Amino acid sequence: MSKPKILIARAVFPEVIARLEQHFDVESNQDDHTWSKAELIAHLQGKAGAFTTGGDRIDSDVLAACPELKMCANMAVGYNNFDLDAMTAAGVLATNAPDVLTETTADFGFALLMATARRITESEHFLRAGKWTKWRYDMFAGADIHGATLGILGMGRIGQGIAKRGALGFGMKVIYHNRSRLDAALEAECQARYVDKEELLKTADHLVLVLPYSPASHHAIGASELALMKPTATLVNIARGGIVDDAALAAALRNRTIAAAGLDVFEGEPSVHPDLLSVPNVVLTPHIASATMPTRLAMASLAADNLIAFFTGNKPLTPLNAAVLAIK
Ligand code: GLV
Repeated sequence: MSKPKILIARAVFPEVIARLEQHFDVESNQDDHTWSKAELIAHLQGKAGAFTTGGDRIDSDVLAACPELKMCANMAVGYNNFDLDAMTAAGVLATNAPDVLTETTADFGFALLMATARRITESEHFLRAGKWTKWRYDMFAGADIHGATLGILGMGRIGQGIAKRGALGFGMKVIYHNRSRLDAALEAECQARYVDKEELLKTADHLVLVLPYSPASHHAIGASELALMKPTATLVNIARGGIVDDAALAAALRNRTIAAAGLDVFEGEPSVHPDLLSVPNVVLTPHIASATMPTRLAMASLAADNLIAFFTGNKPLTPLNAAVLAIK
């Protein structure tokens, strides 16, 4: 019997490809071309499965042009690149890669918070530019982390990891806002207090965004939300571009409505709003929060496990639209 055909849409670990080749007839984009939608469709036609990353958009056009597609496994916890309703309607199973990246991503969120509050990249640029000629009492004075109030918007697994780091490691007071409140045991474990969004914005010394992107969270932080924040506050976005209005944030940073921001994700990335590139009080990183080799390998392996499970008639590990399985 011939093996099902799958497409690996981006470059990935050779050992993961080798494992998938045991089960599938694999086409892989190991040269890591950036495909247009038409190119993605051309490569996906005739494939039963796809190994995708967060930049590979699977929408109704792609689904209509690829009727043989039965499953897409995302090597990311976020899945806003999937039109999940359209996939469900087309009977295409979607999986993501949660859990395996939680601690690595929470580590990075904390690192970005510290780099931002303590002005680490700004001061490094100053040093590299040969501008460091003397000590000064207020040179690159930033904001304290320890003992400060840490606000978290979006309290899923990664948010909880950041809360624990803040409360247990740095003696921070943790407040959070989320679509639904955590149960009491989890709140106690994270030492976090639930507040409404306005209190979160007004009270946090450092605000970390970890909520999923959806039309409902588009520009959840815009000019009016930034205006509520303390002028000394730090904002960190490790969630998704589009949750923050980047133009409004650049203006707030320039006007010192808030003190500083740390951004790992951007609207329209890999393009970055030019106004963000010209303000000094922002730390910019290229969407690397989950980027350690063990974690990236675990994410790729989970995506591969999902593909193998589904096509060998077993239950996928992390389905997003399990309803599709029920009708099979
Ligand atoms: C990364 O952004 C992910 O969603 O895994």
